[in-house]
Amino acid sequence: MNPSIENIKHILVIGSGAMGSQIGMVAALAGYRVTVQDIAEDMLARAKEQLTSRMQANVAKGRASQEDADAALGRLTFSTDLAAAAATADFVIEAATERLELKQHIFTQLGELTPAHAILATNSSTLGSSKVAEASGRPQQVCNMHFFNPALVMKCVEVVRNEATSQATVDTTLELARRFGKEPVLINREIPGFVANRLMGAIQKEALALHAAGIATLEDIDTTAKTALGHPMGPFELMDMVGLDVIDFIAQATYAETNDDADRPNPAITNLVARGRLGRKSGRGWYDYQS
Ligand code: 3HC
Repeated sequence: MNPSIENIKHILVIGSGAMGSQIGMVAALAGYRVTVQDIAEDMLARAKEQLTSRMQANVAKGRASQEDADAALGRLTFSTDLAAAAATADFVIEAATERLELKQHIFTQLGELTPAHAILATNSSTLGSSKVAEASGRPQQVCNMHFFNPALVMKCVEVVRNEATSQATVDTTLELARRFGKEPVLINREIPGFVANRLMGAIQKEALALHAAGIATLEDIDTTAKTALGHPMGPFELMDMVGLDVIDFIAQATYAETNDDADRPNPAITNLVARGRLGRKSGRGWYDYQS
């Protein structure tokens, strides 16, 4: 029992980290009433503050009117109360921490708390939705809806169906992404990394090998990706932006699933993570952002 796209009024985003908060803002900018839910009050407060200042920057740059920015922020509610938000949710996007047991628990709760018509999507990049579908009690209404960092800017959304996902769920999710102003792509089968992270991983792997062999510096490899291939960022800059812990986590999860030597996590990245060099967010990664 899927909602038709026209009946989607209230969107619940679970998790207020970098991805969840910006996904919520994307939905609010598209005119939807949105609740961003998290268990941590301080995370919610920080998300609200960051989104408010991003909207202010858009107004200052002439990208949006003050009125539109205020209206979009007004459609966004930040809450720790999952039951209240879920009770009227027509579409859920889960963007919580990438831990299977946590996500299964969330999908069990969503199955109990949301109206029967609600579609339950996960933003996970490492866990196919089949891993949480049964827990929800409505596997036909479950899929991945994978956004990219920064979600306010990146146009791609990967919609990944699992074996139980209904065509109506796929169609509604693709259409919702379009109404968010995105350009969704459909991934027909769960595969570790889906499409985008597999492409990103292949480039990163080559960049890491070139660097380890002393063929070129980090800076020159990044410059080449930008000036020869037209990429907006070089592979090392991109790893630092996404977070080396996230890159390492994706690699670990992929390797655990494929057991393929080619997917082994890169020790240089694992070492940086162990030394607390996580990328931009910690001030140092491949590059130093403190000086
Ligand atoms: N959040 C929101 N908006 C941001 C932002 C952020 N973190 N960083 C930049 N922006 C906005 C800016 O405000 C600006 O908006 P404007 O056009 O209205 O002024 C616009 O993006 C361009 O920003 P800048 O001029 O400051 O800088 P750039 O032109 O270098 O763009 C970028 C920044 C959009 C991040 C661009 O460098 C880019 O596209 N990089 C590649 C990002 C990418 O590959 N993401 C995918 C990562 S993989 C992933 O997410 C998958 C997951 O599973 C790991």
